[in-house]
Amino acid sequence: MTDFSLSDGRSAAQRSNGLWPEAPHPGQLVLVPGGAGYIGCVLVPRLLDRGYRVRVLDRLYFGEEPMAGFRDQIELVVADVRDIPEDALDGVDGVINLAGLSNDPTAEFNPDANWQMNALATEALGRACVQRGIERYVFASSCSLYDGLPPGMHAENAAITPRAAYATSKRYGEERLLELVDEGLCTVILRNGTVYGWSPRMRYDLVVNTFVKDALLAGKLVLHGGGWMWRPLVDIRDCADAMITAYEAPAEQVHGEIFNVVHSNYQIRELAMIVAGSVQLMGRAVTLEEVPPLELTRDYECANAKLSTTLGFIPRCSVLEAVSDLLERIGSADRAQLTDPRAYNIRWLELLHEVKPVLDAFSAVL
Ligand SMILES: NC(=O)c1ccc[n+]([C@@H]2O[C@H](COP(=O)([O-])OP(=O)(O)OC[C@H]3O[C@@H](n4cnc5c(N)ncnc54)[C@H](O)[C@@H]3O)[C@@H](O)[C@H]2O)c1
Repeated sequence: MTDFSLSDGRSAAQRSNGLWPEAPHPGQLVLVPGGAGYIGCVLVPRLLDRGYRVRVLDRLYFGEEPMAGFRDQIELVVADVRDIPEDALDGVDGVINLAGLSNDPTAEFNPDANWQMNALATEALGRACVQRGIERYVFASSCSLYDGLPPGMHAENAAITPRAAYATSKRYGEERLLELVDEGLCTVILRNGTVYGWSPRMRYDLVVNTFVKDALLAGKLVLHGGGWMWRPLVDIRDCADAMITAYEAPAEQVHGEIFNVVHSNYQIRELAMIVAGSVQLMGRAVTLEEVPPLELTRDYECANAKLSTTLGFIPRCSVLEAVSDLLERIGSADRAQLTDPRAYNIRWLELLHEVKPVLDAFSAVL
């Protein structure tokens, strides 16, 4: 059964989100591009627990250390998805693709690289799978594709018109992979809501995690425009299990299908109140401050019914539970850990960009 125990073993322990008790084909080799990232470091151990063999292919932008807990149980191919070594696909039974730039700021930072990774490399890997007879391809897309639609609850068949670099590249990847269904690829698209919760490769640039970090570090949560904007969210463990469910479902149920992966839609203001209340219970003061809206705000809601009605999968872990779990894990973390630039994708990318010429010059004289 799926382990949903909080770190102190409370309440959610016996719940299942609908992930099948056992893998239908344990022993299969799953290629996980981007498996060293935030979601990957939670997904991979869950795949291993179900008896899969796992090959992670990753540029290791955030290092190898977060994989320490399972590094000796996987194959690691240190490579770029834009240039996948031929033999990385040898013996592979299916793919769960998480690789690429994973938010708006990093995509806008280098739109060309973003297009190569999130759009073209996604398609190229799909084509390589078709050539090799690898059928299952689960693609990590995003609910941010719905941003910009009129207010309302958006389902998978909404007429989306993505504009930003990140969403446009994800949509391209979706469309090309869906076209490959006619050539035998069992494409399953998962549009994940914004993810929350703890991972060995932590990200504090995702709204709930950011609020928890800000509450601990600053004792203050800032609400742009009052924080009335809506956002679809999902816990990282549910997100990982939804990927496994999509990987394991019978082909006729999922091929060519898109699923939103969302626990609930929340207003940002509500998230701040949940985090503030949870931190106050620890005896620490937290204030909320309203400030003018940002120039660009994301505001959208997504339906989550299709995943449960089609596959019986219901994301279970609420923000309240995840915040409690996060506080257990990081409540006493020191400032350096919470402000590590690697936990903020855009900050880390900017830093890498800044130091690269220095490193290049340095290595040239050695
Ligand atoms: N985290 C979220 O809230 C969220 C929401 C919706 C969709 N997604 C999608 O899920 C996937 C994983 O997200 P995440 O939060 O784990 O992101 P992440 O940034 O933590 O992980 C991405 C991983 O991909 C690797 N990578 C990046 N570019 C690469 C390249 N060119 N070649 C090889 N490896 C490369 C990185 O080293 C990293 O390990 C992404 O595709 C993202 O767009 C994430």
